Amino acid sequence: MAQITIACIIGTRPEGIKMAPVILALRRQPWARVVVVLTAQHRELADEVLALFDIEPDHDLNLMQPNQTLAALTARAVTGLDGVMETLRPDLVMAQGDTTTVMVSALVCFYRRIPFLHVEAGLRSHDLQSPFPEEFNRVVAGRLAHLHFAPTETARRQLLSEGVADDTVVMTGNTVIDALHQVAAMDLPLNHALDPARRLILVTVHRRENFGEPIDNICRAFLHLVDANPDVELMWPVHPNPNVTRAAYGLLSGHSRIHLVPPLRYSAFVTAMKRATLILSDSGGVQEEAPALAKPVLVLRRETERPDAIDAGVARLIGTEYDAIVREAQSLLDDPDLYRSMAKGLSPYGDGRASGRIVDAIRSRYL
Ligand code: UD1
Ligand code: UDP
Repeated sequence: MAQITIACIIGTRPEGIKMAPVILALRRQPWARVVVVLTAQHRELADEVLALFDIEPDHDLNLMQPNQTLAALTARAVTGLDGVMETLRPDLVMAQGDTTTVMVSALVCFYRRIPFLHVEAGLRSHDLQSPFPEEFNRVVAGRLAHLHFAPTETARRQLLSEGVADDTVVMTGNTVIDALHQVAAMDLPLNHALDPARRLILVTVHRRENFGEPIDNICRAFLHLVDANPDVELMWPVHPNPNVTRAAYGLLSGHSRIHLVPPLRYSAFVTAMKRATLILSDSGGVQEEAPALAKPVLVLRRETERPDAIDAGVARLIGTEYDAIVREAQSLLDDPDLYRSMAKGLSPYGDGRASGRIVDAIRSRYL
């Protein structure tokens, strides 16, 4: 049987999580030769995820530098990925999401006339400044992709409204739910001592548009919530971006009920989400996972390209102002009816079978 070579490019932690189920599903196909290319835009965060899924990269560009700038990272990624394409000459290239790695992957494929396949296609906030620079990255990826794997009907319709041909858009669901199901079933330990008598608020913050005043407001609101609720403890696996660590450790260190911890392995983070009463986050992936685990999630952003959970009433977009964060979180802690209305276990972003649909679509189009 003829084989096609598919290069799967990964840069960061969430790309590792969301591409792992696709890579594992493709590897089971006799017609697919899968080559994993890691730009290592993230180093430790990406390594941990790939190890969890037992994926060894075939090429590792080792791009990450401490406190890297967007321009320098982009330049290194263009040169590095183009070099891999020169030697590898794949039939197809696939990447997921909206990072610098994804935007550069699409660009390099365009220059080399290699079909680019985009996983998690069609998300839009309609504001190039927010999320920054991700909205630009996904618009570029969407403009250049030959095949678009849309995670939701909203995303599919968005692509069609931009003039993308109907027969190049496949609604698959989000592969993050495939990964979540696989890892949640492992039920691995959290490895951090938490008080079983206390309610857990789990938080993550890392978006660039939240650096500076917004993240300072967010930290002050966290402090207030913990002080006002003695039965609550808060856990924050702090993203290693120096803009995040500076704010988190600078403003919240030393509180006995605030656990600032290094990033958790994905398996431990899933266990923490399952253990949490409430999740506050500006993360894309966490917005998708929390509803599937029946956990209310308050989104610490002014906009979102993921409206489906908000529309379904299982997530709320609360912004980054101190008062709003305190008010919204306190309501959920105090009001069991409100809590139950958000903890329904709906999964607007997928059913855990997205990677199978992606494999089927590639087979029927390219084999
Ligand atoms: C990147 C993505 C963002 C995604 C996020 C997921 C871009 C521009 N940004 O943001 O879309 O939501 O990843 O987490 O593509 N660092 C480490 N070790 C790591 C990873 C990061 O030390 O394993 C530190 C380094 O100092 C690095 C900095 O974080 O320079 C920023 O990394 P970068 O990938 O540029 O941006 P993120 O904020 O992580
Ligand atoms: N995550 C993790 N460990 C952590 C925090 C998050 O494994 O300490 C996972 C989370 O479950 C989700 C993904 O990382 O699947 C989200 O990554 P991130 O928030 O860094 O990026 P985004 O999704 O916003 O691009």
